[in-house]
Amino acid sequence: MPSPSLTLAIVKPDAVAAGNTGKIVAHLEQAGFTLRAASLVRLSPAEAGAFYAVHRERPFYAGLVEFMTSGPCLPMALEREDAVAQLRTAIGATDPAEAAPGTIRKLYAESKGKNAIHASDSDENARREVGFFFSEGEVAGLWG
Ligand code: RTP
Ligand code: MG
Repeated sequence: MPSPSLTLAIVKPDAVAAGNTGKIVAHLEQAGFTLRAASLVRLSPAEAGAFYAVHRERPFYAGLVEFMTSGPCLPMALEREDAVAQLRTAIGATDPAEAAPGTIRKLYAESKGKNAIHASDSDENARREVGFFFSEGEVAGLWG
C-alpha cells in the first residue's frame, strides 16, 4: 500500500498580498493534502536566493529573488499519497496562461513570474525544502 509523503508548498507574496492565502489553503485541503507545518515569513534576499539557488544562472533569478522578498509568504509542509506529483498537478503550469482549468495558478496567478504558489519538484527537493523552513523539532515525526 502506498504511504503518505511530504512536499513543500509556498503561498507566494502576490497571493498573500491579494488575500488569497485562505482560499489556496482550502483548495489544497479539498484536494486531499493535510497541513503538517506552516509559518508566515518574510524572506531575506539571502534566504530567497539560497532557496532558489538552482536558478541562479537564469535571467529571471534577480527578479525572482526580488519578488519572493517583496512581502510575507507562507511555506507549508503538506502530506498526502504521492505528494510531490499530486501538488504539481494541483498548482498547474508555471505560466498561468498555460495552466489547466481549476488549478491554483489558473485561479490565482497573475503572470509567469507572479504565480501565487511554489511546489517542490522531486522527493529529494521536497526533503531539502521542508528542511529549509522547518526545524528538526518541527519536522520530527513527519518523515516516519
Ligand atoms: P516553483 O519552483 O516556484 O514551484 O515554480 P516552477 O517549478 O513551476 O518553475 P521554475 O522553472 O522552477 O521557476 C521558479 C519560479 O521562477 C519564476 N519564473 N519567472 N519570468 C520568467 O520567465 C520566469 N520563469 C520562472 C516563477 O515565479 C517560477 O515559479
Ligand atoms: Mg521549480
